[in-house]
Amino acid sequence: MALRIGVPRETAAGEKRVATVPDVVQKLIKLGFSVAVESGAGDAANFDDESYRAAGAEVLPNAAALWAAADIVFKVRAPSADEVALMREGGMLLSFIWPAQNPELMQQLAAKKATVLAIDALPRQLSRAQKMDALTSMAGISGYRAVIEAANAFGRFFNGQITAAGKIPPAKVFIAGAGVAGLAAIGTAANLGAIVRANDTRAEVADQVVSLGGEFVKVDYEEEGSGGGGYAKVMSEGFQAAQRAMYAQQAKDADIIITTALIPGKPAPKLITAEMVQSMKPGSVIVDMAGEQGGNCELTVPGEAVVRHGVTIIGYTDLVSRLAKQSSTLYSTNLLRVTEELCKTKDGTVNVNFDDDAIRGLTVIKDGAVTWPAPPPKLPAAPPKPKAVAAPAPKGHGHGAGEPMSAQSLATVFGIGAVLFLLVGLYAPATFLSHFTVFVLACFVGYMVVWNVTPSLHTPLMSVTNAISSIIAIGALVQVAPPLDASGAANRPNSLILGLAVVALVLTAVNMFGGFAVTRRMLAMFRK
Ligand code: NAI
Repeated sequence: MALRIGVPRETAAGEKRVATVPDVVQKLIKLGFSVAVESGAGDAANFDDESYRAAGAEVLPNAAALWAAADIVFKVRAPSADEVALMREGGMLLSFIWPAQNPELMQQLAAKKATVLAIDALPRQLSRAQKMDALTSMAGISGYRAVIEAANAFGRFFNGQITAAGKIPPAKVFIAGAGVAGLAAIGTAANLGAIVRANDTRAEVADQVVSLGGEFVKVDYEEEGSGGGGYAKVMSEGFQAAQRAMYAQQAKDADIIITTALIPGKPAPKLITAEMVQSMKPGSVIVDMAGEQGGNCELTVPGEAVVRHGVTIIGYTDLVSRLAKQSSTLYSTNLLRVTEELCKTKDGTVNVNFDDDAIRGLTVIKDGAVTWPAPPPKLPAAPPKPKAVAAPAPKGHGHGAGEPMSAQSLATVFGIGAVLFLLVGLYAPATFLSHFTVFVLACFVGYMVVWNVTPSLHTPLMSVTNAISSIIAIGALVQVAPPLDASGAANRPNSLILGLAVVALVLTAVNMFGGFAVTRRMLAMFRK
């Protein structure tokens, strides 16, 4: 029998998100479910009851009616004790739960003989799980919003400008912690035109920082910062001292600091001290995204924006709720993806299949039995680490991972090439030889150009090559205006050839000017 999904109004103070948006209601109905929504559930995220009705949901007047009617409840925040009391015996719940932090809630839910899927318990390391990863989608939104909050509190532009009234330098943004939220903040601040620097204890994120337009600032201390599963660990005293020295430098220089550093199961590391705040320029801004875990800055007041030593310190813990429409849309899509996995038969029923690693990880209670924590998922064997290469390959060289050719094999390749060339020279007609020489040289020059250009610039390189290839326009030009013969008279081609040549000229002109214009725009994306 088809099950009914219920979406209650969130009851936590300040929570504006809703677990399912009207677009997703339609998709759940296509999967065979019926959907009930509590009246006003989407109000704070700008989805009114009417839009839910239009999508095919039934709107129920209050929480009691909703919880009583629902076989499966979709929620954002972990339910309160009152909400658990409303839940049906043997019901199902899909929501944030944080089982490690909420043992009492787990007991209450187990007593209800419930089946509970905690979206925060998803095994994120499974690539198949990415579409269900609400932690990532929410962290991305809060990283974006942190920059917007900073921009709002900051008294200047982010991008540098030269105006008639004077030159404005770009804002300098420093980001502590380059996980999902940090990377989103780096991308957003760089897009607004700021100079962005970032640091993380996990060295592997350096490339990601650069690819988003930031600069990775290293701590002058050798220590591996990865604690496994893509997460960080608590660093040694020595590292922390070196990191503090570097952060003190950055604080003096930066206009805006955004901190996102977290360590699973531990209080947030204190990275920004009171003295560092004092050393910042008046009017600077700190956005501390770790407020809920105690904050990365000593002076943060979680949930509030305060001014200390002339610096605005924003410790809001509801950054995602401040973009409620966006976050509800992404969150409900994550839940939809989980539902698709639960209901492969598309007939409105669910199968909590423990052979599926993602479902196993998500399920923290099954029919009243606590099944959390799940055993680690079976991951495909990691590829063997490449052996250390004796000498680092030159930067920007495409085949950097391969070993350089030995002098002997290089000589053999050249030898074979020379013999082949000699044979061609001896037996081929003279005209062929000149074309062939040009061809070989073109291959060589092309190879050198392509491999010595950074891979990220290959697309603009292709478009400029495309533009240059319009040199074939010369062929058309020769047809339109042929060279004069000995008597000084022009050999006018017939009108068909002339027409075709003109068409060719127009097309190559588009190719040429278009190619250069596209290249210019692409290169502009790489310029600061
Ligand atoms: P998080 O929210 O737990 O931590 C945020 C960042 O703070 C991390 O990058 C961490 O290294 C950094 N940090 C911790 N202590 C620090 C310190 N003392 N100084 C400077 N930085 C410090 O992590 P998040 O954003 O939830 O994810 C962490 C990683 O997991 C990401 O790199 C992400 O790419 C990865 N991940 C991988 C997935 C997958 O394999 N499919 C899915 C989701 C995330």
